[in-house]
Amino acid sequence: MLNIEHFESLSLDGTWRFQLLRSPKDQPGKRWSSIPVPGLWTMQPDSFDKPIYTNVQMPWDHVAPEVPDENPTGIYERDFEIPQSWDDKRIVLHLGGYESVALISVNGDEVGLTKDSRLAAEFDITSFIKHGKNVIRISVTKWSDATYIEDQDQWWHGGITRSVKLYATDYVYIEKFATTAGLKSDGTTGTLKVDAIIGSINGKSVDGYSLRTSIEELPKVKSAQLSGTYKSHKTPLWTEMSAELQEANRKHFAGEYWDGSMPESAKRLREPLQSPWPGHIVLETTIPKVSAWSAEKPSLYTLRIELVSPTGHVVEVSQQKIGFRSVIVRGRDLLVNGQRVFIYGVNRHDFNRHTGRVLTREDMRQDLLEMKRWNFNAVRTSHYPNDAAFLELCDELGFYVIDEANIESHAFYDSISNDPRYGSAFVERVGRMVQRDMHHPSVIFWSLGNESGIGTNHYAAAAFARSLDPSRPLHYEGAINGDWRGGHVLTDVICPMYPSIKAIVSHAKSGKQDRPLIMCEYSHAMGNSNGTLKEYWDAIHSLPGLQGGFIWEFWDHGIEQTLADGSKRSAYGGDFGETRHDGNFVCDGMVFPDRTPKPAMHEFKALAAPVAFSTTKAGSGSFTITNRQFFKDLTDFGCTWNITRDGQVIDSGTIKLPKIAPRKSAKIRITSKFLTKIDGPGERFVNFSVFNLHRTDWAPAGYEVAWSQFALTSRKLSLPSAKTSELFEVAVNDAGELQLPFGVIAPQPTLWRAPTDNDRIAHFADTWDQYGVRDLERIDCMITESAKSYKVTSLWQTSTGFKIKQVQVVTPIANGYSVKETISTPKQFSDLARVGINFEIDGSLSQFTYLGIGPNETYPDRKIGRVGKWSSSVFEQYIPYVRPQENGGHAGVRWFTLTDTSGHGIRIDLDKPRQVSVNPFRATELADATHDVELRPTGNTVVTIDAAHRGLGTASCGPDTLAQYLVSGGTYSFTWSVRAI
Ligand code: GAL
Ligand code: MG
Repeated sequence: MLNIEHFESLSLDGTWRFQLLRSPKDQPGKRWSSIPVPGLWTMQPDSFDKPIYTNVQMPWDHVAPEVPDENPTGIYERDFEIPQSWDDKRIVLHLGGYESVALISVNGDEVGLTKDSRLAAEFDITSFIKHGKNVIRISVTKWSDATYIEDQDQWWHGGITRSVKLYATDYVYIEKFATTAGLKSDGTTGTLKVDAIIGSINGKSVDGYSLRTSIEELPKVKSAQLSGTYKSHKTPLWTEMSAELQEANRKHFAGEYWDGSMPESAKRLREPLQSPWPGHIVLETTIPKVSAWSAEKPSLYTLRIELVSPTGHVVEVSQQKIGFRSVIVRGRDLLVNGQRVFIYGVNRHDFNRHTGRVLTREDMRQDLLEMKRWNFNAVRTSHYPNDAAFLELCDELGFYVIDEANIESHAFYDSISNDPRYGSAFVERVGRMVQRDMHHPSVIFWSLGNESGIGTNHYAAAAFARSLDPSRPLHYEGAINGDWRGGHVLTDVICPMYPSIKAIVSHAKSGKQDRPLIMCEYSHAMGNSNGTLKEYWDAIHSLPGLQGGFIWEFWDHGIEQTLADGSKRSAYGGDFGETRHDGNFVCDGMVFPDRTPKPAMHEFKALAAPVAFSTTKAGSGSFTITNRQFFKDLTDFGCTWNITRDGQVIDSGTIKLPKIAPRKSAKIRITSKFLTKIDGPGERFVNFSVFNLHRTDWAPAGYEVAWSQFALTSRKLSLPSAKTSELFEVAVNDAGELQLPFGVIAPQPTLWRAPTDNDRIAHFADTWDQYGVRDLERIDCMITESAKSYKVTSLWQTSTGFKIKQVQVVTPIANGYSVKETISTPKQFSDLARVGINFEIDGSLSQFTYLGIGPNETYPDRKIGRVGKWSSSVFEQYIPYVRPQENGGHAGVRWFTLTDTSGHGIRIDLDKPRQVSVNPFRATELADATHDVELRPTGNTVVTIDAAHRGLGTASCGPDTLAQYLVSGGTYSFTWSVRAI
């Protein structure tokens, strides 16, 4: 498998003949259907074999290496013709990816068999080819011994996932081509090593063949041109050795050069004694004044490669993109080009909701562009090597990559990583990945795989990788699992999964760090999640040895499934009829199945912003601006500022950003009378927005990359009190229910939310079921009326018999009334979703406007946003998590309105900033639905106002939220008021 481009190639992608058998033992019949290649049969609508989702468990009961008898096998077949110009050429078949074992035959003759679904297999088929029409058959069998080391947490599919092609070379050809480009500590001197093997078939000699390389962008730089000629040598017979050679040899064996002092002359003399490695050519150089590669500035160079015959004919031409950069682990720091960069990473699986795992280059590019838009700078190719095109795109766009081998024996862990029968598979999977991807500047770590425990096979694979490529550090989570001080042979980074903030902080402060800590997975993005992301980054940004991590994960892998009635849904485990499955655990990404971002992306984007602002006193107009980048100044960015009062801009301006060097700060000043002048009530803020001055590959000019908001001294709004008001007069009905304008269901206490995936999977929701707080029934009510107020005292009972006391004191204000709520819950309620009230309003009030943190969904432990006045339709407030759950909340809401198209409706003001949500669906409806498409709006708008709301945390796979974001039982008071507008 060569990692350079083949210009003489013939794609075999397209429509192939196809048959699906129930077992590899069955014989294909005469009837063929058709299938696209690449294409998975599990994604064909009429296939009997469907996708299956399991996480850790295998989809059946067997023990390695046994597999079920029922073992779907797809026979892919097509005809092809070889161009005439390929006569007298060596012809190679390249099969990009298949699941999990493929048997290849050409014109009825078996060519070979291959496993390792995520690296291309190549077969020399020269001797199988005939003139005119040829037939190729690829029989892909779904389950094999390899399945046990491909037990990654994702869908099981069957078929061909990546492109199939043929390419041609001369009989003498480049067999291996490894490039290592480095950067010296001066930051501008590049180093380049090319290690190649010239191979041959049909007995052709490779003697006298030369390899020439040059760098397209550096045509005049002599040191960028390299060439070397392979010369075979004959090892002299012992008896024929010259006296000098014998002497050099004698001294060598006698250990006289033990200190490495062998003179060059002796080394040269002894060269003919080295064991011959046919075709081996090594070229090395140092190139001055290169522009270094980094994720921020991905400068690439084009290495041109020529293979020249002894008579001077160029027999093969190719090219490879390279980048000069250095990566080392020094002490507790990972240094890229000498800088301790932060890893703002995300784990990414191959996924496409229509094709399963078959991706185009454009699909991969769009994934990366999306990541760029949200300030990600790193990807872990969880949990297998991606298509070679993916790394080309990472080189080009600028990402740091952990390139991971296709090894996961999660269901069997160490028993497989210690099983010698799997030893060569481990070594090959790691080794072939290293050889294919070695030239990519984006790759900064090799990963030995995922969740396979720790075993002998890992040690073999690690040694192999270190020897093949000493230039890169290794990554393997299994090596430090349980003891972050261990596993040095297998990992050069401490790369835990889902550690608590407390753990990484105590490690960072221990003084015992011996390597950088970069979390290979953290902040599980399942459903409405990613709580406490900020606390992770506060720790990473401020403590030694912590350098970032990779969010789990990029995608919600919801496959688009068409139901009997023609509607479509995002399918997850169980939806294709599989009985053994792991439900919606496969939908745990930062983007929905159609790649639209989830709200949590906004939180991440702010944390990973390239520019930060700070001040000791916003009213002074003096701010510090910090360039958080490592390799660039701020010339790519523009900056504007404004001052808002209750969301209205009252002054604004532009700042010419100073030229701030990487990691440096400077002072900026804004002038405005509104910095200090409090001429009227309302909250004032200074806002900065930093944006791209120019168009980039991923965003138009003007795209915001960073922002900041600072509170100015303010005078809060206060509501005018009144003796009475029309609304107050009728505020409470005989049943003790508050009457709201446009009200449909009167306000009542709520202690529950539609469980998030975190709540459900970590069983917090079970606790709420024990409290019985999903349904509250009013069992008693007393109304005390005076001229100035109503007091409604209610007793509510949960479905399991707990009592909740609610007191509402209603007083008049101009055009409305105000309600002081006091809700008392039993002390034994130690963990509640919320304490608040909810009510329903007529759905004709379809427009929602609020002053608070926005405009995106926020929760107490994920609430980075700008205080402003934000508007949307009620329906847009609903966030379509694949499995419906609590959604659409807003932290820090001061007031909000619900209005109809003519602007009439209600306005609610809150005593202090609170969590509010407005949604077309009730919490119970959300909780009872299993898929987004099942929800049917009732026509009402469901409003919830919370005195306290539980954080989101990440407990579906990882730590829960922090203690300060939990809601316990007790007495909560808050005040809200309503007016008709
Ligand atoms: C990790 C694993 C991932 C995924 C994740 C949970 O343990 O490495 O593959 O299963 O948990 O979504
Ligand atoms: Mg796993």
